[in-house]
Amino acid sequence: MQYIDIHHHIIHGVDDGPSDFEQTQKMLQRAHENGVAVIAATSHSMPGLQRFPMDEYLDHLKMAQEWIDGQGLGIRLCTGSEIFYTRDTVRMLQEGRVLTLNNTQTVLVEFNPSDEFKPIRDAVRHIGNAGYTVIVAHAERYEGTQDFDHLMELQQDYGAYIQINAGTIISPGGFLRKRWLRKLIDKGCCDIVATDAHNVTSRPCRMKHCYETLEAGWGRELAERLCYTTPAKLLELIP
Ligand SMILES: [Fe+2]
Repeated sequence: MQYIDIHHHIIHGVDDGPSDFEQTQKMLQRAHENGVAVIAATSHSMPGLQRFPMDEYLDHLKMAQEWIDGQGLGIRLCTGSEIFYTRDTVRMLQEGRVLTLNNTQTVLVEFNPSDEFKPIRDAVRHIGNAGYTVIVAHAERYEGTQDFDHLMELQQDYGAYIQINAGTIISPGGFLRKRWLRKLIDKGCCDIVATDAHNVTSRPCRMKHCYETLEAGWGRELAERLCYTTPAKLLELIP
């Protein structure tokens, strides 16, 4: 089974992911061992708040792809970013200064953990009105996306996709969090899982374990949809 990881901090020297190329190499090795075939290289970007080092990002991405090809790891890297939503996000997206996922109209967006539902919904609507599809990054983290009705509103009324981190699927936490996560998946409120890997130690790629957890709990069809089919469609790798 091959997986697609649409949230992965693989590029060195541009955010809190790997600090040097050697760490990127270790992460790529780990992703390969996990069966990951495509990685969207989603370095953090904060439109209008912090300059995104675009040239460095693109150089390092090229280096990483060349290394992958040289090693025969069979991983394809796609451009992207994890966009922290700010008031400048839409304008800078339209100016081409913020990376979408694989140059599509789909964007991976994160919020403040303490954000209530309304600012999140307004942001998703604002970005959607500008012609983009929003993937809400690690939706398990925000105050405003704990309620399933709210998640369904984002999906149904605003066409958003909900991404949950692989680490959360594998270890949701205590009894209540476990129950919450089970319900979230039962209700169809998780569209995509991704690793949000930052390194090979504290935040490693655990895609395979995540897939196996989903398959054991909900069956193969759902596991494949969350780990492969939906991300592949959003990256426009399959129709
Ligand atoms: Fe992230």
